[in-house]
Amino acid sequence: MALQRTHTCGELRKSDTGKDVVLNGWVDTRRDLGGVIFIDLRDRYGKTQIVFSPQDNPQAHALADQLRSEFVIGIKGVVEERDSVNINPNMPTGEVDIRCSELVIYSKAETTPFEIKDDTKANDDIRLKYRYLDLRRPSMQDKLMMRSKAYQVIRTFFNENEFCEVETPVLMKSTPEGARDYLVPSRVNPGKFFALPQSPQTYKQILMVSGMDRYFQIVKCFRDEDLRADRQPEFTQVDVEMSFVNEEDIYALMEGLVKKTWKELVGADVQTPFPRMTYDHAMNTYGSDKPDTRFGCEFVDFSDIVGKSEFRVFSKTVADGGIVAGFVVPGQGVLGRGVMDRLTDRAKTELGAGGLIYIKNNKDEVYSSVGKFVSEDITKEMVAKSGANEGDLLLILAGNRADVLNQLGGLRLIVGHEYNLIDYNKYNFLWVTDFPLVEYSAEDGRYYAMHHPFTSPKEEDIDKMETDPLSIRARAYDLVLNGSELGGGSIRIHNRDVQSKMFRLLGIGEEEAQEKFGFLLGAFKYGAPPHGGIALGLDRLMMLITGAKSLREVIAFPKNQKAQSLMDNCPDVVETKQLDELHIQLKPMVK
Ligand code: AMO
Repeated sequence: MALQRTHTCGELRKSDTGKDVVLNGWVDTRRDLGGVIFIDLRDRYGKTQIVFSPQDNPQAHALADQLRSEFVIGIKGVVEERDSVNINPNMPTGEVDIRCSELVIYSKAETTPFEIKDDTKANDDIRLKYRYLDLRRPSMQDKLMMRSKAYQVIRTFFNENEFCEVETPVLMKSTPEGARDYLVPSRVNPGKFFALPQSPQTYKQILMVSGMDRYFQIVKCFRDEDLRADRQPEFTQVDVEMSFVNEEDIYALMEGLVKKTWKELVGADVQTPFPRMTYDHAMNTYGSDKPDTRFGCEFVDFSDIVGKSEFRVFSKTVADGGIVAGFVVPGQGVLGRGVMDRLTDRAKTELGAGGLIYIKNNKDEVYSSVGKFVSEDITKEMVAKSGANEGDLLLILAGNRADVLNQLGGLRLIVGHEYNLIDYNKYNFLWVTDFPLVEYSAEDGRYYAMHHPFTSPKEEDIDKMETDPLSIRARAYDLVLNGSELGGGSIRIHNRDVQSKMFRLLGIGEEEAQEKFGFLLGAFKYGAPPHGGIALGLDRLMMLITGAKSLREVIAFPKNQKAQSLMDNCPDVVETKQLDELHIQLKPMVK
């Protein structure tokens, strides 16, 4: 290389004045001020201003005239202090510039499809197609750097706590439970398939049977599921398993990890231990198993008050076993009719609510949107029970219990964001505990594991596995941050009989259990320690700690909403020869 750099573009300061230096990088911006050319030269470390004047070196100046954004260049020159009027306090290198004596153009660049700057207006698909350009933006590079630091912090933490990092296979047995598997055909075993791991769950349990005691891994997982802003088909877990532990050991360990990570990555002091909340409480109070506790608006059940009302929507709902419930929105009693109509519309279209009832608890008037049908006494009783203050708004929904809780949960989030009830500087961590072991799907006529089939029921509930499965609580926990599920785990079943019972409950027969999980059941025959663990979503962690809106902002090469990578255009068709080798014949596509 013609000009080997002596410094990076983020490095030089006033104290370097007078030094001969060489910098390499990309042309960020170029300005021509009356014959003197100014360039901001950019690399991962920052930007430095370079000055080309015809007096210093006519040749370099003439060449500089050809420079355009994103050309890659090397420059040689002398560091000089800027006049006080020209100091740029917003740039760490803003007190100096480099008077250039030599310029080499390493490569030219066509006009980029979007400008390389932090506040880009380019849409997501363009950014993904030209990801190499998108990743030149300093804000993206900062996030990748922070992610890189996170790996180091996490590894150091587990290393200090005597964990063993083990790489588990990427080609494994298909065990469809939960999401769909990504399948990989085996050429040497015609007609047979591997699956990519949805998580290393079975391997990490086997490692406990092997006596590894404390395992962790920063591991890629793959799930063929419908995508959202906080879901990618390929994502990374911080996966953990420990032997001879209970819930408290896992909570303490993970609180330590989170505390250290937040301190080292963003300098924040996270308070531990984290608060805990049972699943039932979370659902009844926030309508979500991952409540955002940065704001209140806890639900109040009015069913006992309104059951006696003449208003049929209220009385019939309660008589039919449903509920009438709502929450207070502080200070929003002032909202006008138009705003309330729009909120009602959103409740109906986005959340599937039948309608939205509201009471404005204002000084001069307690206005109820169903005041024509509901007596003033009942309205006042509702206001009293809700604890609404003067000037507050009360939002109310009626219907079957599960629907109302779910819809109120959605409405609470809409209102929380819309009316600035959320302090976005807070990190509210929360353990949600005591999840149900199973849920019932009426559609499929069977039970599904709420977490996964290896999660242990609570000791005192085991005898209900055959009689009352829905009432069984699991030794499962989620780590929630600001309304997002950051991680989940459980104490596992280590007893072969309980594991068999669990499979039976899930409608997995003896033969199928042997076929799918025989290796695990087999391992349990030879001495399995009590064990448990957890996995954190590393992408989610990075998204939340950086305040990014989507996982795509913290993954170098993510997939789009259709699980495609637009940059290298995959998934893609393959040649017939490749399919032949795999003994695969494609069926005609059914529309
Ligand atoms: P679970 O399925 O809850 O548990 O996953 C653990 C965490 O992984 C993250 N996550 C995802 N992140 C991005 N995109 C996805 N599609 C995605 N799916 C999950 C979430 C989630 O909380 N084996 C168990 C863990 C255990 O029991 O130890 C498991 O995988 O942050």
